[in-house]
Amino acid sequence: MIRRGWSSWGDWATTMRSMAGTGSLWGCCCDFFCNKTAIQYTFPKQKLPGSMVFSRLGQHRITSFILTTQMQSHASVSVVPVTVPGLQRMKREGTRIVSLTAYDFSFARLMDRAGVDLLLVGDSLGMVIQGHANTLPVTLEQMIYHTSAVVRGVQRAMVVCDLPFGVCHGGGKAVMDAAVRVLKEGGCQAVKLEGGVRMAESIRYLVAHEVPVMGHVGLTPQAVHRLGGFRVQGRGDAAELVMADAIAVQEAGAFAVVLEGIPAVLAERITEHLQIPTIGIGAGVGCDGQVLVMHDLLGVYGEVVPRFAKRYLADGMVSDAVAAYVQEVRGGWFPGPEHSFMG
Ligand code: KIV
Repeated sequence: MIRRGWSSWGDWATTMRSMAGTGSLWGCCCDFFCNKTAIQYTFPKQKLPGSMVFSRLGQHRITSFILTTQMQSHASVSVVPVTVPGLQRMKREGTRIVSLTAYDFSFARLMDRAGVDLLLVGDSLGMVIQGHANTLPVTLEQMIYHTSAVVRGVQRAMVVCDLPFGVCHGGGKAVMDAAVRVLKEGGCQAVKLEGGVRMAESIRYLVAHEVPVMGHVGLTPQAVHRLGGFRVQGRGDAAELVMADAIAVQEAGAFAVVLEGIPAVLAERITEHLQIPTIGIGAGVGCDGQVLVMHDLLGVYGEVVPRFAKRYLADGMVSDAVAAYVQEVRGGWFPGPEHSFMG
């Protein structure tokens, strides 16, 4: 359920109370931030997890809010898992697919409950988790480790694991061996691999052996050295190369394709042309779905926000929380009696 609106503090409280009474929302617990003061508002009969995302805050006034609750993730409500045919149906029906990267149990659980359809265990973990300059050092073992943690947090979302640099260059059988390990040991439902025309054979081999594959064309980070950096692809005449890659991926049997770092008009054209869903990152709004790296959404990776990313937390919120903890420990204010065991 998603509600959007404009509200004063009073309107907000009234709205929340009336929603709590409808049965559509049993209760809600949210943090309300006004000038960095957190006020917690808890309904007495809290039965469902809920969250509020504030897009803009004014002094003593919520100027815009989005409230989401995840009824489907609650134990008493049946959970319909996202599947390959389900994603393809979403494209046909025009329902946008929501995807995020995930690397651990806790965030995967939170994202699943928030309604994210597709969790991608991206080899971007080489950068945002491990601190490397690119994704090339990531190993298959590491992908399996993170995938198994993510899978344990998920009830509904589909989990897709990136095949890391190096494993896709040994041809169909080698790729298949890696995919089998990822599916058996990681427990995910599909793999993603980077590359279009040049990866079509491998994709075909995997699909023929019952491994669902997601393609990835445009800016493919594993090709960073060939591309000369993380640069937008498909400008001018190069647009047809990206189109050919996307078509090759579809014809090889992929169930969806990530379009990364390409002009919005090209992404829209590819999306119209393909039968399989396109999931965009830095590819404009015309794709069938969007994916963001979790750390970009939270604004916890690097100082610069890339043009294609949007931070959904107010600037500095996470670092402010850590700084507050530092101060409280130094000052002897944490832990308080309420955090201590007595007797
Ligand atoms: O590795 C990754 O996280 C990705 C997404 C950004 C699409 O490939």
